Formats: sequence, structure tokens, C-alpha cells
Amino acid sequence: MGALALLLFIGFTACKSAEEAPVRQRIDFTRNWTFLLGDNAKAKDPAFDDRQWRKLHLPHDWSIEGQFDQKHPAGVGGGALPGGIGWYRKTFRVEEADKSKLFFIDFDGVYTNSEVWINGHYLGKRPNGYISFRYDLTPHLRYGQQSNVLAVRVDNSQQPNSRWYSGSGIYRNVWLVKTNPVHVAQYGTFVTTPQVSRESAKVRISTSLVNARQQKGEFTLHTRIYDQHGKEVAHVATEELGLSDSLTEVKQELTVANPKLWSTQEPHLYKVVTRVEQAGTVVDNYETPLGIRTFHFDAQKGFSLNGTPMKILGVCNHHDLGALGAAINVRALERQLEIMRGMGVNAIRTSHNPPAPELLDLCDKMGFIVMDEAFDMWKKEKSKFDYSLAWDQWHRRDLEDFIKRDRNHPSVFIWSIGNEIPEQWGPEGKAIATELAGIVKKLDATRPITAGLNEPYPHNSIYQSGGLDLVGFNYHHQDFEKFPQSFPNQKFIATETTSALATRGHYDMPSDSIRRWPYRWDLPFTQGNEDLTVSAYDNVSTPWGSTHEETWKLMKKHPHLSGMFIWTGFDYLGEPTPYGWPARSSYFGVVDLAGFPKDTYYMYQSEWTDKPVLHLFPHWNWQPGQTVDVWAYYNRADEVELFLNGKSLGIKKKQGDDLHVQWRLPFQPGTLRAVSRANGKEVLTREIRTAGVAAKIVLEADRTQLSADGRDLSFVTVKILDQDGNLVPRANNLVHFKIDGNATLAGVDNGHQTSLESFKANHRRAFNGLCLAILQAQEKAGTVKLTATSEGLQPATVMVQVK
Ligand code: GAL
Repeated sequence: MGALALLLFIGFTACKSAEEAPVRQRIDFTRNWTFLLGDNAKAKDPAFDDRQWRKLHLPHDWSIEGQFDQKHPAGVGGGALPGGIGWYRKTFRVEEADKSKLFFIDFDGVYTNSEVWINGHYLGKRPNGYISFRYDLTPHLRYGQQSNVLAVRVDNSQQPNSRWYSGSGIYRNVWLVKTNPVHVAQYGTFVTTPQVSRESAKVRISTSLVNARQQKGEFTLHTRIYDQHGKEVAHVATEELGLSDSLTEVKQELTVANPKLWSTQEPHLYKVVTRVEQAGTVVDNYETPLGIRTFHFDAQKGFSLNGTPMKILGVCNHHDLGALGAAINVRALERQLEIMRGMGVNAIRTSHNPPAPELLDLCDKMGFIVMDEAFDMWKKEKSKFDYSLAWDQWHRRDLEDFIKRDRNHPSVFIWSIGNEIPEQWGPEGKAIATELAGIVKKLDATRPITAGLNEPYPHNSIYQSGGLDLVGFNYHHQDFEKFPQSFPNQKFIATETTSALATRGHYDMPSDSIRRWPYRWDLPFTQGNEDLTVSAYDNVSTPWGSTHEETWKLMKKHPHLSGMFIWTGFDYLGEPTPYGWPARSSYFGVVDLAGFPKDTYYMYQSEWTDKPVLHLFPHWNWQPGQTVDVWAYYNRADEVELFLNGKSLGIKKKQGDDLHVQWRLPFQPGTLRAVSRANGKEVLTREIRTAGVAAKIVLEADRTQLSADGRDLSFVTVKILDQDGNLVPRANNLVHFKIDGNATLAGVDNGHQTSLESFKANHRRAFNGLCLAILQAQEKAGTVKLTATSEGLQPATVMVQVK
């Protein structure tokens, strides 16, 4: 049995009943590739000998494996990691019995300028590093004992081509799709819900069917909707379909009674199953997600979901996964969303490019609203070798593919046709925005279009195009209030806000003096902290942005402001404003690169969730007599009392629109204790003690049970504590990791923007008391033991079961 036949056997089966042979298969095609970092034109030749190449599984990002160096062509803004050219090859077989089938290869994303060959035949290229694309392999396949060779050349050598870290390689999943000649086209369904009430929902579906070999006869198209429990709730069949054309579009309508609506709180999902039959035989089976919901943007009242007003509480994120680089991992994405959910976030902006499809699957399931963004630039460049070079030839195709791929996701609510597009300052902005909005509307008229405007004024030429349904503000919070006057009857969204800066666990006083950092990473460093830290009191922001509190205070006050997307949820690689080298990752995140929250996380949590919050900071290790500002974020209480070594320092209450309370006191070592009270009754207490010298390591795994699938991850937080269990706030001990069992170390990090250590090493320095080890399950079950050691510290272990 050939390798592929084996894969086909274990592959995904879309059929309902077990007796039927699977008619469509989507086979995970990420295992067992070979890789060369370098260029070799002969590698496209199937006879090429690649035995010396490295063997690996995709998704893969070669940049993240490299060493930081400011001289790399990506520059510091691009994350100071290497680019270059790489080749990937995969050898596989196809059974003789499959000669009647069609085979497609689907790439979810390759950064960048990919070119693909099958058995030496050139299939094509895709300059866009974030777009998903497909090639038809069928005409070039060999069957039986003969091997097929897929070769992919990835060219990320011309840099800078990105304002942030891009990663390099086949960094997203790859699928082999096998169908019958009569099948549902790629992205071949479009499901909408034109009428929704609590009693009933009308579901409209348009299905594109391909008849690749002009098969004669009549076909029946069944569409069924299943609820979350797998129960059929609607069915429609269209019979006697001729399918004489190569592409036939069939429109159907169904009704779902008493629909369970999709919301951010209860993301009820349905599944649409399309089944094509010929004379009682199933020829295709295809699934489409469905969420039934209504939403509305109103010029006065802002956003509402299923008739209920709500604010869009969003974050912008780049696609990198910190220490894992750009290489997609579903668990890593899920963890990011869990961390965001913990802060109260209900929306994600995929800044500034099409995301991995799995991110949208997770947002569908977990209940996040998505602003799905197409481009960071159009025809005018932002970096010398960026997508503007491909714009003329590719933008239509890329935008169409993007909309078709994503338009069935219930989580997607807003299309963004661009971020801070330079054409907004010239007449071209109007023409291009009109063209792009036309492309989007033709493919999906159910969602509003916006663009992140950094000149959100009525004369902006993108706004002037009339193509925007929502006026997208990047920053300019000073103009939020007067929006109804400046843009009468228009609808508002803050596509990007804040750009505050912070290093986790670092505090500069006085906390109430706000610094608009006048420097950018790409200008010479003349001011700031010697160690390139930035204060985490929410008292530093870029001049074009604001502190977290400044924007949120405005946003919460005015109903016409439908919502916001903070720049950013997580720190990301590249763009290390306000410093430059050796800083190599951003300071913008509410959460650091390793996934550890900075203090403002709890300000949002106190405002955006119902969870009782009392967050006290900073740490309690200062110079005797030094004046220290103590802050508390709290909710569900009307006051907080602070005690130092048992002595009250007074009760504080938030006044007016305050989002925190503050005490200023001379430092004395000991115990700082805060108590929040509602109507005199204690709600929560928090204590911070002066830590002694570092004495031990403690490991906390976010998950101790993993699937033996070669992908699953456990994120292990490493804490450096003193003898009494207090976190040592400035501990930077070097921690070594050792794994026994069937897991690997996928990455290490500490969230420090200036760390030049490798993410792929088996050791990491703690930063401000913390670091992170990411364990990855292999494909064998068993017990895994992670041991962390550090000179002079009591070591620690954690056990993880791989099943
Ligand atoms: C915005 C831009 C983002 C990021 C941010 C940093 O202008 O849209 O991509 O660069 O600034 O503050």
C-alpha cells in the first residue's frame, strides 16, 4: 500500500453513514517534507536527489530558527531575523484505483513569493504571503508504483517587505483534497441568513458545482442543516440538475425553526452539509459552518448583536505566535484567544492580512467577532519590496479568494480593505477604494466594509469613495466625541487605538506623569531607559496614540462609538517602538510575547468582564525610603483600603471616570495588602510581599494532558521564587530545560523585548521573575517529564500525559 493510500485510509471522512466510501477527502499533507535553506533550481525536477535535505513536518517557519541580527535584510522592524530562499519537497503516491478522481493541493499560506511544481510541471506562483491558494494536480499525477514529487520554492530574500515580522516558509497547513469529477467547487458555497427572528431563520445557500469531465446524467443537490448535537433541522433538495456546464450555480432556501442564535456569549453553530447525488449514489459531500445571527451598526447607537446593544471590545494582533514564530499551531492560537477572553475581549482584528483559516474556526467556536483585513498597502509601497510590487497583477484575485474563503464564517462581521493606506492622501485612494469595495460587495453584501484610516477626516479620499460602510478610525481619540458632527449619519468603528507601550513588570515613577514617547524604533535612540524598558503603569504611549485608560474612558462614554481594536493584544516580533536594536519585538501588547499579562490586562478585565477583580501593583522590592506609587484596578466594590505591614494607608474610591486608585508612599519592606469592599463588606483581598533572594523554581503547565498528534502544546510558566514562595520581581536566572518522554521543546521565551537568546534553545533567562517553556507532544503516547534547573536554585519538574 502506497503512503498516500494509507493516508487516505486514515483521512477525514465526510460521509454520514459508514457503509459509503468517502467521496471527498481532505488529507493533512503536512507530514514528511524535505527542506533546503538555500536555492537550487534543479530541485523542481522530480528526479532530484534530496536525501541530504532536512526532514521536517509543516507548518514551518525557518526565520524563527535563526539568530537575531540587526543586519538581516528584514531590519529591526521586521524582527531582525533572517529571510532568504528555501525549498520544500514531498514525495507521495496515488493508487491506480484513484485514476478517476481529481486531486488538488491547498496551501493555507506561504511566506512569500511561492512557486509550486508537481513532477516538474510548473503550477504557478503566489506573491502574497498570507493568501490561501489551490492548484489542480490531476493532469500531472502518476499512479501506482510511480512516485509524485511536489516541489515548492519560497522566496523571502527581497527584504524589507514587511513592517513587522513575517516569518518565512510554508508556515500554514497544506491539504490534499480528493474529489470526484462532479464536486462542489473550491469555496463553492455561500450561506447567508437574510431573515432571522427568534422563531425562524431563512437560510439561503448558493452552491457552485463543477463537472470537470462533462459527466452526463442528472444530479440531485441535497442541502441539510444540522444543529450542534448533529440533529437535522432543515433539508432541501434540487433534482434533475443537468450540470452540463463546467460550473453551475444552484440557489436554495431553507428555514430553521426556533434558531439558536450565534453570539459572543453563546456561539451556537450549525453545520450545512451539501450532498451531490447521481442515481442514488453520493458523488460529493461538503461542509460549511453556519451561525445564525443579526447585527447592526447604527450612527447614533453603535453596534448591536441579535438586537442587543454591545460594544465591540477588540484587539489587533499580528499573526506571529511569539517563540513559535509564524508557524501556525491551533493550540497556540486557542491559548491566545483564551488569554484575550480572560481580559474580556470579544473581537479580533486580523491586522493587517488574511489570517490562518484555523483562527476563524476558533473565533466561530469561541464567540469572537472578527474584523477580517485584506491589505496593509495597495499600489504605494510601505516597505521597499512589499506587496505593492504585485498589486496590479494580483490584488483582484487575492481579494476575491480572501472573501470567498472567509465569507461563511459567522465570526466575520467586518471586511477591512486596508490599513493606513498611503493612497488616502491622493486621488488614487478614491478610485482604488471604489474598485475594492465593488469586488467585496459583489461577493458578500452582508457585511460592512471599512478601512483603517490614519487621516479620518471627511476629505480623506478613501472615505470620499463612498465605499466604506463604517468610518474606520486609526487613533485620533480626540476626535471620537465629535464624530456625529464631522461625519453626519455615518457609522463609526475605531479600527485601531491606543498604541500604549509597556514592559511587563517594569515601573517608572511618578506613575501619573504620562510620557508621549517621541521616538520610534527607526530613529536614533536619544532618550529612554538604559535597559530599554518601558514603564507598565499605563503612563507611556506613542504620540499618535493614548494610554489605555484615555481611549477606553472615551469609548465607554459615547454610544455612537461602536467599538475599538486596541493596538495590540499581544506583543509581536518586530516594530520595537520606542527603541531600536537590540529591542526586536514590540512593546504595544496588553500581554507580552510569552503570553504573560502586563498590568493593564486587569484594568480591562475589571471593566470588560463580570469577574470580580482586585489587581494590586507594582511589586514590593524598592529602595528603603523611595517614594512608590501603588495602583489598584478593581470592580464590584466601592472602595479599596491599603495596608502596609498591618497599618492602614487609607481608603480610596474611584471618582468620576477613574479606572484605578492610587496611593503614594515611602517604601518600607514587608507586606502590602489591599482589601476591596462593597457596602462595607469585604469582596477581595490581595497581598504583595517583599521578596528575598531567588531560591527555587516553580513550574505551572497550562495543560497536563496532551493529544499524541505531534502538534498539541503545553505552555509551562516558569516562576522564580524566594524561599517563602514570593515571586522575585527582577529575577533573571538562567533556566535549563530537560525533557524525558515523547515531547519536544517547541520554544522558550521570557517576554523581554530585548532578549537576543534563541527561541529554539533548551534554556532561557527569566525576565522579571518569569519565563516560558513550550512542550510539544510527539505522535507517541506516554508520560513526559519536564525538568527545569538553574544554578543555585531548587529545581522543579512537571509531568504531562500524552495520550
Ligand atoms: C499604526 C499601524 C500599525 C502599527 C502601529 C504602531 O499606525 O497601523 O501597524 O504600526 O501604528 O503604533
